[in-house]
Amino acid sequence: MSKQRLEGKVAIVTGGASGIGAETVRLFVENGAFVVIADVNDELGHQVASSIGVDKVSFHHCDVRDEKQVEETVAFAVDKYGSLDIMFSNAGIGGSSSSILDLDLNDLDNTVAVNVRGAAACIKHAARVMVERKTRGSIICTASTASMAGMDACGHDYTTSKHGLVGLVRSACGELGAYGIRVNSISPYVVATPLSCGVLGLEASEVESAGAVDANLKGIVLKPIHIAEAALFLASDQSAYISGHNLPVDGGLLAVNRSVASKNPLHNMN
Ligand SMILES: NC(=O)c1ccc[n+]([C@@H]2O[C@H](COP(=O)([O-])OP(=O)(O)OC[C@H]3O[C@@H](n4cnc5c(N)ncnc54)[C@H](O)[C@@H]3O)[C@@H](O)[C@H]2O)c1
Repeated sequence: MSKQRLEGKVAIVTGGASGIGAETVRLFVENGAFVVIADVNDELGHQVASSIGVDKVSFHHCDVRDEKQVEETVAFAVDKYGSLDIMFSNAGIGGSSSSILDLDLNDLDNTVAVNVRGAAACIKHAARVMVERKTRGSIICTASTASMAGMDACGHDYTTSKHGLVGLVRSACGELGAYGIRVNSISPYVVATPLSCGVLGLEASEVESAGAVDANLKGIVLKPIHIAEAALFLASDQSAYISGHNLPVDGGLLAVNRSVASKNPLHNMN
């Protein structure tokens, strides 16, 4: 298979200045795409763009909470590179970690504003351009394993936002299929980035160690590149008939019910 799986395609990566987004920008460019990094962090965004090569990557300031800025970012990508084939709506925040008993509903609003409302703006404006130009594009959102299961004592606003995001992906997929536009999401397990380090209050190596304790798949540490590879698959023609899917990148974590598995008499047999 050719390495250039996105040859000549144009992508926007929101949250592309850091973590999963920055890794995906690199991988998309390596695979022949032109990429616009859309992020609120101008300094990091410019750094990532110039470390890759400014002929292939541009930074455009965009706060996804502001619909106008999202619309302008889409227009910028089309003006600069001639089309829009891929929208990777990946920008997200970790939200608060308070108990439901103390949940500040303003925190819930803030988290939903970025993780759901921001993604809705990205889907809307990317789809408008794709429909108008008859581009059978690919829209991908970064959800989370928190889109498929609740947590116990924290992360209520984050979990709510990621469940909502997957609902949005499915409904958008239903409408946009008529235009040949695919909409999918990716649900990573915990991966060491500034977001997870901030939420957990841990260094990157500590986040990786903590993740390894509960991981189903042993002997491999989840890194941003594993999620970028999933985004590359969903962006490319290799996934040409996949839409409405929420792809876990969790090493099988949520596929297994440990409380049942550990009671299985076969569990301890060699
Ligand atoms: N790190 C994890 O363990 C993990 C697990 C599952 C899902 N995710 C999701 O992955 C996505 C990427 O997160 P990450 O872990 O790479 O974190 P990160 O903090 O490294 O990157 C997030 C990026 O989003 C940008 N951003 C935040 N608010 C924004 C806004 N309003 N508009 C535009 N950009 C904004 C930040 O500036 C940053 O560059 C998020 O949606 C997150 O919820 C992360």
